[in-house]
Amino acid sequence: MLKLAVLVSGGGTNLQAVMDAIEDGRITGAGIEVVISNNANAYALERAKQKNIKNECISPKNFASREEFNQAFLAKLKDYTVDLIVLAGFLVVIPPEMIAAYKDRIINIHPSLIPSFCGKGYYGLKVHEGALARGVKVTGATVHFVDEGTDTGPIILQKAVAVEEGDTPEVLQRRVMEEAEWKILPEAINLIANGRVKLEDGKVYITKGNGKEQV
Ligand code: GRF
Repeated sequence: MLKLAVLVSGGGTNLQAVMDAIEDGRITGAGIEVVISNNANAYALERAKQKNIKNECISPKNFASREEFNQAFLAKLKDYTVDLIVLAGFLVVIPPEMIAAYKDRIINIHPSLIPSFCGKGYYGLKVHEGALARGVKVTGATVHFVDEGTDTGPIILQKAVAVEEGDTPEVLQRRVMEEAEWKILPEAINLIANGRVKLEDGKVYITKGNGKEQV
């Protein structure tokens, strides 16, 4: 059983998608060990409580320095047995020591087709504002492993979503969530939990039967 820590900052609809997929069997071989938020008011924490999932809050604001926060954050995570860290709308930069301690065991959902509209400054609505400003006709979402860079890790799954005339950033954000994020995040977790994701030379291969297929 793959034990997950889901890290959140806001509404937690991606967390909800993962909890629902575990409940209805779209994710097998994985369970949520703990939900951690940097924001005490995050509705995501409420969603965890409703399902009797252990939940914690730890914020950089309550520490004298980022260094102290980073150490406490890693220590808190180590209170639990965690096989995979899932960043589901988590807005705090993951400390380098955490990336090292959980090498190739941290995944993130990003609301664009990486490498478009990603990297520093592209978070939340800004991603969709960028897509609309550039006039792209197709956007989407990406699940990727987390490395030391911002949105630079190996891509696991992507799903395209159409941009429609008259879209506002809010409307596009919602469509990307509904049509892509809430589907590919559970799907990626299920693939990892069932040993079907292989990382080789910085690329992800999804194994099918005996062979392997790059996606
Ligand atoms: C999602 O758009 C996710 O891709 C981004 O932050 C948002 C989180 O939404 N990184 P929620 O908290 O899961 O509802």
